[in-house]
Amino acid sequence: MALFNKVALVTGSSSGIGFAIAKEFAENQGATVLVCSRNINGAIKALRKIKGNTQAVGLDVRREKDVRSVAKRAVLDHGGVDILVNCAGHRFDNAIWYKKYHQMTDRVLDAILDVDLKGTIHMTRAFLPSMIRKTNRSHCASGVIINIASTPALSGQKEGAPYTIAKAAVIAVTKHIALEYGNQKIRAYTLALGNIATDATYYSMTKRGRKIATSEPAMKRWGSAVEVAKVAACLGSESFSYATGNTIIIDGGKVIV
Ligand SMILES: NC(=O)c1ccc[n+]([C@@H]2O[C@H](COP(=O)([O-])OP(=O)(O)OC[C@H]3O[C@@H](n4cnc5c(N)ncnc54)[C@H](OP(=O)(O)O)[C@@H]3O)[C@@H](O)[C@H]2O)c1
Repeated sequence: MALFNKVALVTGSSSGIGFAIAKEFAENQGATVLVCSRNINGAIKALRKIKGNTQAVGLDVRREKDVRSVAKRAVLDHGGVDILVNCAGHRFDNAIWYKKYHQMTDRVLDAILDVDLKGTIHMTRAFLPSMIRKTNRSHCASGVIINIASTPALSGQKEGAPYTIAKAAVIAVTKHIALEYGNQKIRAYTLALGNIATDATYYSMTKRGRKIATSEPAMKRWGSAVEVAKVAACLGSESFSYATGNTIIIDGGKVIV
């Protein structure tokens, strides 16, 4: 119960990795979790599959005004959040992923930047002030921001440049938060993920695509969303109290730096 008495908000927690993080935090770590989806019914549906303290939130991270009102509501309901996980991402799209760099259009690039990068910026910008106020009221606990990126942000990739570009910038966001707010008891991390089996990836790929992905890491398998959630729980706890700004790679040993 490493997150007992903590309040966490996880964007994009109606499915996949975000859902696994919300479930781990609420069911196994004792946190109160704000489960988010663009569609409130999606959040309610997800929340029903989680035991523990949860609250459904309708939230589109592209809409800054809505983000700010969710941040305000979190202060009224819970005194603010202690842990913010930015997991919302533009859905994985084979048609985008398999395009070469020179084929990238502004429309597609903007669509991905709007969710993965600007969504993360909207969230952190809106939640940081109340998170700082909350941590200042506490003696030892820190506020934690966990941003979800991917390994191509570190290694590059032969296709899917819009995702790589957005996620590389997310790493920069984490570093700024860590450096600018470290003296105010805020810690920030990026999780750089490899192939994690979710409906959006493993189950939407061709058999051949899956096989190639399986062969890539040293461990010769896909990761599970639960394996990501366990790391996120650790980072959100005080176990990582003297580490910040880090990029933690979870990819079964493909990109080793
Ligand atoms: N799975 C992998 O192999 C992998 C690898 C590297 C990185 N990642 C990253 O991990 C994260 C989760 O991926 P996943 O595989 O779990 O995919 P997923 O199931 O499609 O999750 C994406 C989530 O983002 C939400 N979302 C989409 N647009 C949004 C918006 N504008 N505002 C708020 N929420 C929005 C979706 O919820 P609603 O539709 O309910 O709003 C959904 O719950 C993403 O950031 C992805 O880029 C995944």
